[in-house]
Amino acid sequence: EWTAGNVAEELVEQVRAQVGSDRVLCALSGGVDSAVAAAIVQRAVGDQLTCVHVDHGLLRAGEREQVESDFVDATGVDLIVYDAREQFLSALAGVTDPETKRKIIGREFIRAFEQAARDVVEDRGDDEHPVRWLVQGTLYPDVVESGGGEGAANIKSHHNVGGLPDDLQFQLVEPLRSLFKDEVRQVGLELDVPEAIVWRQPFPGPGLGIRIIGEVTADRLDILRRADAIAREELTAAGLDRDIWQCPVVLLADVRSVGVQGDGRTYGHPIVLRPVSSEDAMTADWSRVPYDVLATISGRITNEVREVNRVVLDVTSKPPGTIEWE
Ligand code: XMP
Repeated sequence: EWTAGNVAEELVEQVRAQVGSDRVLCALSGGVDSAVAAAIVQRAVGDQLTCVHVDHGLLRAGEREQVESDFVDATGVDLIVYDAREQFLSALAGVTDPETKRKIIGREFIRAFEQAARDVVEDRGDDEHPVRWLVQGTLYPDVVESGGGEGAANIKSHHNVGGLPDDLQFQLVEPLRSLFKDEVRQVGLELDVPEAIVWRQPFPGPGLGIRIIGEVTADRLDILRRADAIAREELTAAGLDRDIWQCPVVLLADVRSVGVQGDGRTYGHPIVLRPVSSEDAMTADWSRVPYDVLATISGRITNEVREVNRVVLDVTSKPPGTIEWE
C-alpha cells in the first residue's frame, strides 16, 4: 500500500544501506526537492549529513530564515550557511542582459558551493569517514526526461553542481528518483519538513536576479523583496495559493513614471504582478485574480514601498510570454 509513511521509511532504509558510515553533503536551496531529500538522508544517517545553503542574496524575504531556522529546528540537520551575497552582487554589477545574468549566477553558485564543499570535506571528513556522497533532489520526471538509468541524473540548473572540479568527486544520493512532485510533498510532511517549504510554489534558481529588469543592486533587491512579500501575503490571505501556479513579482528598475502621493509629485518605479495558472509551466494562462485582491495588493505596495508608485498586471499567456520576464 502506498502511504507517505511507508515510502519515507523505505527510502530512509535505502539511503542508510547506500552510504554506510561515509559522510554526505547536500546543497539546500530553500526549495521543496532539496529539503525533502535532505530530510530523508538526515533521518537515515543523522549527523553524517552536512547541508550547505549558499545565500546568494537573491532569495525572497524570509527564505533564508526558513532554511536556517525552521528547517533546522524541524529536522535537526547540521547546516552551514555560506554567505555569498557580496560575491554575487559584485559579479552582477553593471550587467543587464538576461542570459548573461543567468550565466553569471550559475557560475557564481558553483564557485560558492565548491568553496563551501571544500570546507565541509576538510572540517567534517576523515580517512575512515570521507565525504563521499552528494545529495540531489532529482525527481522521477527528471529521470525520464534525461533518458533514465543509473547515472543519467539530470542536474537542474538551480542545483547545478555538475561543474565541480575533479578533486571534489562525489557519488550521487538521489532518494526522490522514483517520486512525483505531489509524492515528494507528502513524504516531506511525513518527515516534518516545514509547510512553508513543502508547499512552496516554483521559484527559479536565479531568484530575484531575473525579476529585476535592469542591473541587480542591493537597493533594488530590497525594493523588490518588500513588494513581493506583500503580494505573497495577500494572495495567501485570499486563499489563492493552490489556484495560482506561481506569481512572479517583477521590478522595472530602469523605468520611472510620474505619480502623486500625499501632496507631492513622485517619480517612482513600476512593479509588475505576473500571476499564472499552469499544469507544468510549459504553457500558462494569466490568472484571473479577483479585482479586490489586486486592489489590496496594489494599495499596500504603493503605500508601503516608497520607491514604487505604480502596480501593473501582466495579462499575457505563455506562449507568447514566458512566465518569468528574463
Ligand atoms: P519560463 O519563464 O521559461 O519559466 O516560462 C518556466 C518555469 O521555470 C521556472 N524557471 C526556472 N527554474 N531555474 C529554475 O529552477 C531557472 O533558471 C529557471 N528559469 C525559469 C519559472 O519560474 C517557471 O516556473
